[in-house]
This record gives sequence, C-alpha cells and structure tokens, in this order.
Amino acid sequence: MKLSGKSILVTGGAGFIGSHLVDRIIQESPANLVVVDNLFLGKEINLEVARRDYSSLKFYQQDAADYEAMKKIISQERIDIVFNMAVIPLPTSLVRPRWTVEINIAMTTVLCDLLKDEKFKTLIHFSSSEVYGSALRVPIDEDHPLIPCTPYAASKLAADHIVSTYDKTFGLDTVTVRPFNNFGPRQNDGQFAGIIPIVINKALKGEPITIYGDGKQTRDFVFVEDVVDATVEISKNDSTRGQTINLASGIEVAINDLAKEILDILQANVPITHVEARPGDVRRHCGGVLLAKKYINFQPKTKLREGLRKTIEWYKKKQSV
Ligand SMILES: NC(=O)c1ccc[n+]([C@@H]2O[C@H](COP(=O)([O-])OP(=O)(O)OC[C@H]3O[C@@H](n4cnc5c(N)ncnc54)[C@H](O)[C@@H]3O)[C@@H](O)[C@H]2O)c1
Repeated sequence: MKLSGKSILVTGGAGFIGSHLVDRIIQESPANLVVVDNLFLGKEINLEVARRDYSSLKFYQQDAADYEAMKKIISQERIDIVFNMAVIPLPTSLVRPRWTVEINIAMTTVLCDLLKDEKFKTLIHFSSSEVYGSALRVPIDEDHPLIPCTPYAASKLAADHIVSTYDKTFGLDTVTVRPFNNFGPRQNDGQFAGIIPIVINKALKGEPITIYGDGKQTRDFVFVEDVVDATVEISKNDSTRGQTINLASGIEVAINDLAKEILDILQANVPITHVEARPGDVRRHCGGVLLAKKYINFQPKTKLREGLRKTIEWYKKKQSV
C-alpha cells in the first residue's frame, strides 16, 4: 500500500510521537492529511514544522472518543488510513484511572466501529510495551505473556484486543505497532511528563533529580524518528496486516544510568535522590524486534547518546525562547 495520494488521519497528531509521524507522513506525499487532537497534552506548536511543509494540513481540536464527531470528520475528509496515536498517558492513570481506561478504550473502539462500517480502509493502531508488564524473560518478543501492571497498561491491552477481535470478526485491514519507550524532541515536559524531559529540564535548571525506587529498573529507549520511520514502513507493507509488531532498540538501560548519561552530556553536577518506587512501575524492559526485522528490516539508526544530544538541544532551545 502506498501513502502517496491517500487521505490520512492521525489521532493524537499534536502529541509527541503523533507530531513526528505527521512530519514523516508528509514525505510520502499524501493527498490529504488531517490531525484530530483535543490538546489534552498535545500542543499546536508541535505541528509548526508540518504546517510549514504541508500548508493544507487540517487540524480538528476534537475528542477522538466521540463517535459522531469522528464519523463526521472521517466521512467529510474521505479518510483512507487512520493512525491511532491519541492516548491518555500512564502517569495520568495513577491519579485518574477510571477516566484513563474509559477514554483509551473508547478512542480505539470508535475507530474499530467506523472501520467495520467501511468509513475508512486501514487502521494502524499504536499499542505500548507496557502491556507486557515486567519482563519474565528478555528480550521481550511479541509472544511474551501480557501482564499489565497499571490501569494505563490494561487500557492499552484492552484496546489491542479490541483491534484484533474486530479484525478477526469482521475481516478488517489493521496492524498493531507496539513501541517500547520513545524519546526525542517534543515529548511532553509539563504535567504527566516522562523521565527524560524531567531529568533534562531539572539538569538545565541546576535542580536536584528525583528517581523513583532504586533506579535499577530498566527500560528500552528508542528514538522517536526511528519509530515513525518504521511505522510508515509497516503501514506500507500489506503482509504486516493482522500482526502486532514490537519497535525497540533491544538495549536495556537502567534509569540510574540514563540519568547519569544526561548529566554527563550536559556536564551538569546536580544531586540525584531516590524516593519510593512508583506503583506499577515495571522492573525490567528490553524489546525483541525479530518481527520488525522480518517485515521491514528494522534497524534503529539513532544510538541513545546521539538521540539524547538531539533531545537536549531541543529542550535547551525551548527554554531559551
Ligand atoms: N511515549 C512513549 O514512550 C510511548 C511508548 C509506547 C507507546 N506509546 C504510544 O504511542 C502513542 C502516542 O503517545 P505519545 O507519547 O505521543 O503521547 P502524547 O501524550 O504526547 O500524545 C497523545 C496525544 O493524544 C491527545 N489526546 C488525548 N486524549 C485525546 C482525546 N480524547 N481526543 C483526541 N486527542 C486526545 C493528546 O492531546 C496528545 O496530543 C500512544 O498510543 C501511546 O500509548 C508511547
């Protein structure tokens, strides 16, 4: 399948990964490109590059869990392909669990129902490595048991099951992309931020860094541009349909080492303190990417240090404006 000439919708396109995906899709020359985002955490400024490179980009500030509104947009814009990126993130699920679960499930179910009713043709659904829970074995391949530890992870897993069961029941055109921890420019650094933007901003301000638990918990960090490149390749490859495909670096990094790496790049000398572990924090993550290798010859280009340098530069610039 080609993306050129297609009408494409990205939900959550004003967010971190979604906005990079929008930038990447533009390189494929779509006929129409539409973003739906209610700006819960997303920001219109994340679409600045996209608007420069693709002046006809359409933006709807809209709740993607609203069936009638989504039906109207998808019909009106004659959408062929939807990339399902909108999400309420993990940290929100620790303070508003019911709402997080309800919205994450609703946003995906709305799209599945519209796909079933032939309002569009192809759904590229975004899952999360959080659905695996803590590694029982590494690397975590797609056959690893699914033992989510947080309401967020449960909502992501429920959404994945909804996609795969709609696909099987109604014979749809879907694929599920399952990335491990993304990092890069534009990651939300406000409320409900992730570890990398928090550490960078604290270090830039010379403030102490707080790490949940002993910091020996590990994650697999993959640079956002590698993830969106791979997502576009997966979307173009028809043989991926019905599959769930991990995207990861395959490298396990302890949070303590990640913080040290950032401080080292910044040559910052700030104290690191440890507080009680966050509830539901997975202990060990390291992704297996044999399926991604098989289908799209996936090989992440950006090493952690190089990606962190680019990310730090972006946050430095942001702080200076
Ligand atoms: N960031 C990561 O490390 C990571 C890792 C694995 C999977 N993922 C998945 O990637 C996808 C994108 O995540 P992200 O990190 O870019 O998150 P993000 O929070 O930066 O972006 C999500 C976007 O969804 C929007 N949104 C939330 N609720 C909405 C609603 N009701 N209607 C419309 N828009 C809504 C937000 O405003 C935001 O712009 C999600 O599916 C997430 O689960 C992310």
